[in-house]
Amino acid sequence: MSLLNKKKASASASDPTDKIGKDLSFAATEAYKRLRANLLLSFTSDSSCRIVGVTSSLRGEGKSTTSVNLAYTLAEMGKNVLILDSDMRLPNVHRLLKLNQSPGLSNLLSGGGGNNIIQPTALHRKLYAITAGDIPPNPTELLSSRRMENTLQMLSQNFDFIIIDLPPIDAVSDALIVSKYTSGMIMVVRQNYVDKRALDNSVRQLRYHKAQILGFVMNGADPDSGYYKKGYYKKDGTYEYRSKSNV
Ligand SMILES: Nc1ncnc2c1ncn2[C@@H]1O[C@H](COP(=O)(O)OP(=O)(O)O)[C@@H](O)[C@H]1O
Ligand SMILES: [Mg+2]
Repeated sequence: MSLLNKKKASASASDPTDKIGKDLSFAATEAYKRLRANLLLSFTSDSSCRIVGVTSSLRGEGKSTTSVNLAYTLAEMGKNVLILDSDMRLPNVHRLLKLNQSPGLSNLLSGGGGNNIIQPTALHRKLYAITAGDIPPNPTELLSSRRMENTLQMLSQNFDFIIIDLPPIDAVSDALIVSKYTSGMIMVVRQNYVDKRALDNSVRQLRYHKAQILGFVMNGADPDSGYYKKGYYKKDGTYEYRSKSNV
């Protein structure tokens, strides 16, 4: 699936801010709406704030892109949404939303930051962001601190959803640590990018940490390679595979 509509794709395919928000291709917009619908179905009641972590095995699989687009689609349906950049090693949310990186989460967790930590976004009036802040020497310690837990508890009073953009599981333990503060985790899996062993290992680690895995997002998947494109159902209900040249 291409995230961009054709006009945008030819204009500036390398600008990551083009891959978020309302100007996506029809297929991408629909895919994010399906993700939103599946996410909402994962929760039995909508009375309290849902804290959803987004992670993957490796860097570059599309966690930040998915987090921001998911947060945006939830805001679009009238929810108060906060996106929290917890990837203090390679923060990206501020770039995607064109915000200042600091002050942000690291400043808040180390006892500073002032009043401007929660930033409104130009993308949607119901979407707010806490950017990563100044890059700290000890992200894992900050994220595992009691202050992180308290911060999330405090923030959950004011939002329907908190989407946490996390670092990849293969690199550091941050995502696993934060998973215990979430209602559930979404794993982004980039097609032709991550191998099965790395993915299996990530899932095993999440399970070991008793994280609730809400589901997987196949990112960058080519719909033409999808199983459903391989054939068709005939009138008599049998399935006919097409030869390769017809696919
Ligand atoms: N489905 C997609 N189609 C095209 N480009 C994508 C897609 N998902 C992510 N990208 C691009 O891939 C790069 C890595 O995405 P990013 O969301 O920053 O990954 P991560 O947060 O997992 O490191 C960015 O340049 C982003 O614009
Ligand atoms: Mg990222």
